[in-house]
Amino acid sequence: MNQPNLLLSPLRFSHEAGQLELIDQLKLPGSEIWHRYTSHRAVADAIKTMVVRGAPAIGIAAAFGVVLGAREGVPLDEVIATLRATRPTAVNLFWALDRMQKRAAALQSVSSQELVAGLSAEAQAIWDEDVAMCLRMAEYGAPLLPAGNVLTHCNAGGLATGGYGTAIGVIRTAFAQGRITSVFADETRPFLQGARLTAYELQKAGVPVTVLCDNMAGYLMSRGEIQSVIVGADRIAANGDVANKIGTYSLAVLANAHGIPFFVAAPRSTLDAKTASGQDIRIEERSSDEVVRLAGLQLAPHGVAARHPAFDITPAQLVTAIITDAGVAKSPYPQSLGALEAAT
Ligand code: MRU
Repeated sequence: MNQPNLLLSPLRFSHEAGQLELIDQLKLPGSEIWHRYTSHRAVADAIKTMVVRGAPAIGIAAAFGVVLGAREGVPLDEVIATLRATRPTAVNLFWALDRMQKRAAALQSVSSQELVAGLSAEAQAIWDEDVAMCLRMAEYGAPLLPAGNVLTHCNAGGLATGGYGTAIGVIRTAFAQGRITSVFADETRPFLQGARLTAYELQKAGVPVTVLCDNMAGYLMSRGEIQSVIVGADRIAANGDVANKIGTYSLAVLANAHGIPFFVAAPRSTLDAKTASGQDIRIEERSSDEVVRLAGLQLAPHGVAARHPAFDITPAQLVTAIITDAGVAKSPYPQSLGALEAAT
């Protein structure tokens, strides 16, 4: 990248040492702790436990996990199966692993050193391409944001990607261009990606940000304090239905009720043409402990039941536009997304 100061990347990789480092996103913003990884199993655990999270970021981390597996001399089918079994909803994970598998197949008859070198180059390309896609998305998306305040949910920033962010990338560019005034960040229960990570990133970037509890958006919309909503995505079905962090659907309904545009920003690695609609997307159910406990503190009575679907589906008809690295898709989505997917 020629503008490294723009980036807040959740990972580092040393090609010489064969070592991946991940910033612990469970500890941010309180502590900036980097963990080192030399085994694919440890990377799989980091994805499962959300040390690294965000759809593009888990794809990139998994790609480097494959490199580590190759260095360990573990059969690559086994490595890729382990990494695939971490989180089910974000398609970027499977997209990245499919790419690594293809590259490995093309390197079948080379030495193990050449295999590692080839896989490292592919993982690095996945990372570099993600940053480039986010920067392009920001250029396409920034002009769409109306003047005033924008609301976002979860964290679709540098930490969730190769380093620039999808929705947050659009926001940062729109702010730099003087188009928007400030950002509301939903806290995003139960992991608090908004309060912890989005607020941290935007503060670092000098973009005015105000944290909201997840139940405050409707009130602020009714008072005219929010002019647009923009979120990222974990998977977008062929019909334009969007899987994203739990709570996104409620926001889209609210935005619709108040006549506020609702944008989704996602690279083409998030488009899943093989999945017809949102109903076919597998939604990850995480432990109820993550709901009833917060930072080690038991909030609800011991033994009480709690649900934890980690994502929801926003139907395409609630989405004003989907901003991709190849341009902006609008309804009818099957046609517009199909055309963007095919674009070079
Ligand atoms: O559970 P998470 O934190 O991995 O969920 C992340 C999200 O839902 C993001 O909004 C999405 O991955 C887009 S990231 C650019």
